[in-house]
Amino acid sequence: MELIEYIESRRDEHLSELMEFLRIQSVSAKSEHKPDIGRAAQWVAEKLRGAGLENIEIVPTKMHPLVYGESLHTPGKPTILFYGHYDVQPAEPLELWTSSAFEPAVRNGNLFGRGTADDKGQVHIHIKALEALQKTAGKLPINVKVMIEGEEEVGSVSLWDFVKQNRDRLKADALVVSDTSMLAKGVPSITYGLRGLNYYQIEIAGPAQDLHSGVFGGAVPNPITILAETIGKLHDKNSQVAVPSFYEDVAILSRQERKALNSLPWKEKEFRKTVGAPALCGEKGYSIVEQLWTRPTLELNGIWGGYTGEGAKTVIPSKAYAKLSTRLVPNQNPAKIAKLLERHIRKLLPRSVTCKFELLSTGKPWVASYSHPIFQKAIQALQAGFGRKAVFIREGGSIPFVTQMHDTFNVPCVLLGFGLPDENAHAPDEHIALENYFGGIKAVALFYEQLATL
Ligand code: BES
Ligand code: MN
Ligand code: MN
Repeated sequence: MELIEYIESRRDEHLSELMEFLRIQSVSAKSEHKPDIGRAAQWVAEKLRGAGLENIEIVPTKMHPLVYGESLHTPGKPTILFYGHYDVQPAEPLELWTSSAFEPAVRNGNLFGRGTADDKGQVHIHIKALEALQKTAGKLPINVKVMIEGEEEVGSVSLWDFVKQNRDRLKADALVVSDTSMLAKGVPSITYGLRGLNYYQIEIAGPAQDLHSGVFGGAVPNPITILAETIGKLHDKNSQVAVPSFYEDVAILSRQERKALNSLPWKEKEFRKTVGAPALCGEKGYSIVEQLWTRPTLELNGIWGGYTGEGAKTVIPSKAYAKLSTRLVPNQNPAKIAKLLERHIRKLLPRSVTCKFELLSTGKPWVASYSHPIFQKAIQALQAGFGRKAVFIREGGSIPFVTQMHDTFNVPCVLLGFGLPDENAHAPDEHIALENYFGGIKAVALFYEQLATL
């Protein structure tokens, strides 16, 4: 049977198999899901075997295992490394899901469930594309290495060691990743830039223990007040980060790139609708696309301390906490930014408190040229799968492995995104458009087939 016909004929099987994958609660951030992580790794290994890959290994790491497989039977043809992740973000707050997070459901042409878009659905696209090639041609048209990790959502902490110890095994002519988004529905997109990410936690400590606010209030430092004051000083009134030297190394966009990014078929109205806030408040002097893709930020991710339960409790808490992160762009250096931020926060704090500053994970920004001929193959395949010419975009999210790969092997990284910006990745009601899931399988199968003629 011909490739596309084969893929079309298997739509129902593909969808129900993806649902099986989605039911596994492989939340990497929570230790209670460790057994689910193990089951997801097993599941991936089994499906890779079904797609004709060999030497399949579930590699234990300090945290969560990664799954590796390969098929190297076409000497002289290109070798690609496909990377994705089987772990997902926590599903909380559960009560905000229309249908339950780990019981996938189809509504209005979308498949809902944690991991549909990020990244199980997109990983499954590649597994099924490889399987279709294997089943219709009897072997894969190119050499393929596949690595699916289980700790992307917590910063790919163990991955770097694995890459360093397995340089030869992972060596390829190109990296292929599907863990990003399309610019908009119907607009196939290739991502050539990602922001980097540093993630921090701070603990502000005042009194040695919680204190009665009537007995002590007025004379002792309140860590929550001090944390809030400090956080309030991290941005200026133009929404710029107020950490000295924060912007020092930021690369200036060329006029051409600025023009190209600002003339993409991107609709501000859609963006505003997705955000759903009364107004936007980005850095002055930059378009929204520039703010999202080319400018660094400092974000508060969470803040806690004191009493937050039912009713009232009069207390001056001993400690207050915040989780914050910086999105980084070329040519910022993550280690330097961490130092600048820590120094600035310590300077802002009064002597009445102490501060523990932790860097939880770190990842470099990435931007690369897309002149390599492999990108022409990607454009052709996406055109065949989606009926429209692909655009080249940058994105604001982070995938630490892409930078590691690019730095280690200096090979083209082809990021084919099949998610959409309004599909609620990391949020309740995450979903993937079925047309992008099915279209993705076709496009990826054609892409791998076409790579044989590169
Ligand atoms: N798939 C995303 C990255 C992404 C999202 C790229 C949107 C482009 C557009 C990935 O799973 C992710 O969420 N990464 C984390 C970073 C990680 C170190 C926790 C992120 O970007 O917050
Ligand atoms: Mn992802
Ligand atoms: Mn994610």
